[in-house]
Parts: sequence; structure tokens; C-alpha cells
Amino acid sequence: MSEIRAFLSNFNIVGPISLAVTIPWIMFKMFSAAWLKQGYNELVGKVVVITGASSGLGEALAHEFYKYGAQVILCARRRQELERVRTDLLHSQCRETTYPPIIIPLDLSEYHNLRTHVDKILSITGRIDILVNNGGISQRGKAKDTLIEVDQKIMAVNYLGTVALTKAILADMLKKKRGHIVFISSVQGLVALPDRSSYSASKHALQAFGDSLRAEVASENIHVTIVSPGYIKTQLSLNALVGSGRLHGEMDATTQSGYTPEYAAQQIVKAIITKKKEMVLSTLLPKIAILLRRYFPFLYFLVMEMRAKKSTLKDLAVNQDNQKKE
Ligand SMILES: NC(=O)c1ccc[n+]([C@@H]2O[C@H](COP(=O)([O-])OP(=O)(O)OC[C@H]3O[C@@H](n4cnc5c(N)ncnc54)[C@H](OP(=O)(O)O)[C@@H]3O)[C@@H](O)[C@H]2O)c1
Repeated sequence: MSEIRAFLSNFNIVGPISLAVTIPWIMFKMFSAAWLKQGYNELVGKVVVITGASSGLGEALAHEFYKYGAQVILCARRRQELERVRTDLLHSQCRETTYPPIIIPLDLSEYHNLRTHVDKILSITGRIDILVNNGGISQRGKAKDTLIEVDQKIMAVNYLGTVALTKAILADMLKKKRGHIVFISSVQGLVALPDRSSYSASKHALQAFGDSLRAEVASENIHVTIVSPGYIKTQLSLNALVGSGRLHGEMDATTQSGYTPEYAAQQIVKAIITKKKEMVLSTLLPKIAILLRRYFPFLYFLVMEMRAKKSTLKDLAVNQDNQKKE
């Protein structure tokens, strides 16, 4: 009898406990939803500069910002592709009042000229609220086979150009005491992979620059978000440079199976409006690699060594095949 009484008394506790957990949880969810909605609403009329807006993730980001009423400034080298993106945006469905997208053709590797482009944008819009540093190129091949000119090119686009543009825009943000700077880094900015020495190095450099900058400008009401994506299904591997400097020209299976650019763009815009300081946008495996590198480095070194050996064997097999054909 006493056991039954004890059993029933458990129910008396379970009820209040589940209420005590559920009600704050529901309130938290409602508060988060309202906060997010306000964040999206605040994008209306914001001037958002996006580099690498002529394809892939940058293009998807342009659509996501435009959808919420932002004035997007599309930057990349290929004017024709930027015009295509602008036309697509103008024909897309928008919930809010829209501002016509502006095209600014620029080459990040010509980093001494970027200030002129920033002056042009400011002369049109008067301010820049958000800068999304997304433009970049990848690389394939062993460090020993990679020309130093390729390292220079990757650093010039992914790091120096991005830093130069950031500095040119930062000056105006500091004057106005507000702004948000976003760096699209990579999981490879946190863990380096074999056959990607130049790319990983450029993204590690970007990661460090962003971390330093975040601390320096926090008191000036300027936010910094670093996004580290895993794989996204874009043209990145097709446009990657091999050791000699020519294009890799192949769609890698990992890139092909990555997140869609649209999904990645949605998550990134959400991270920006909630002012996240950093976000790893990936599946579980890259996140495990990041943890291994930090807490179990010997395991990470071992896995990477095995990966490098596998790729060397693959290269050897390809070379032998080519020699047989000749
Ligand atoms: N796809 C992935 O799996 C993945 C994973 C992690 C991180 N990311 C990062 O995401 C960003 C976007 O890449 P994506 O995946 O969308 O690849 P993508 O389709 O190849 O896009 C790269 C963009 O960068 C621009 N770009 C390249 N060189 C430039 C230069 N010298 N000056 C100005 N713009 C330049 C390209 O435009 P133009 O050719 O017209 O100049 C293009 O719009 C990159 O920073 C990349 O490192 C991608």
C-alpha cells in the first residue's frame, strides 16, 4: 500500500516539474521567434555589400537579403554574371519594398584599387550597413607541386583583397558607429587538410583577422561574424586552382553532396541578424574534425596523414594510367 502511495506521489511531482520546464521553454521559443522576425524586418533598406555575388553562395545570399528588402550591392569580376543575378533578383518574389540591386565589378586580387570601388558605393548609397566578404577561390594539390604564384593568388583574393575591402568600408562604419562585417571562411579555416595548403592557410589567416577585428571594434557598435561552412554545392571545386595555376575544372563529390547554397544562405542571414560571433555550418564529420584538432591533436594528425597517403596513391595511379595511354 505504501508503495502504491509513493508511486502516486511521483505523479504529483511530475506534473509541476513538466509544467516548470514546458512553460519557460514555450516562452523562450516565442521570444526567439519574435526576435528573429524583428531581425528580418530590420533588414528592410539595409545596404548590404556582397563579394562573390556572381555565383554560388554569394548569389544565394543576394537573393536572401533582397527577399527581406535589403539594398544589395553585387560585387565580383564577371559583369555579365552580375547582370544576370540582378535581373533574376528584379524578377524574384519579394515580401518587402525593394531597392534596386547595384552592380560593382571588381577584382579582389587588385587590392590597392578597392577603396575607389567603396567610394563609388558610398557616393550612391551614403552608407554600408553590412559587408559580406564571400568572394574566394579554392586550390587543389600538394604544397611541393604548387607554384608560389598560386599561393600568392589565393592569398591575394581570399585574404589580402578581403582585408583591404574590409578596411576601406570599416573607416565609414567607424565614423557612423555602426555596421556588421561578415567573413565567409571555411571549416578549412579551423582545420587544415592535405592538398589544400594555400586555401587552408588563406582561410586560417582570415579567421585570425576576423577574431582580432571583432575585439577591436566591439566598443564601436560594429559586429563581426565569421562563418565556417563545410561543403556547399557550388562551382568552388570547378574554379579551384591546381599547382600550375590552371583551373581544377572538376566537380568534387564532396562539393556535389554539400548543402544547397540557398539553405546555407538562409542559415547565414539568420546568424547575421542574431549577431552570432561565429558559426560552423556543416554536418557532423567536419565538426568532429574541429574537436579532434583541438582536444586530440595526435588523432587528427594521424587521420590527415592517412588522407594524404591515400591521395598520393591515387595521384600515382592516375600518372601510371596516363603513361600507359601515351
Ligand atoms: N562551396 C563550398 O563547399 C565552400 C565551403 C566552404 C567555404 N566556401 C567559401 O564560400 C565562398 C563562396 O564560394 P562558392 O562556394 O560560392 O564558390 P563559387 O561559386 O566559385 O563562387 C566564388 C565567387 O567568388 C568570386 N571571385 C573569385 N575570384 C574573385 C576575385 N579575384 N575578385 C572578386 N571576386 C572573385 C567569383 O566571381 P567572379 O569569378 O565573377 O569574380 C564567385 O562569385 C568562398 O569564399 C569559399 O571559400 C565554400
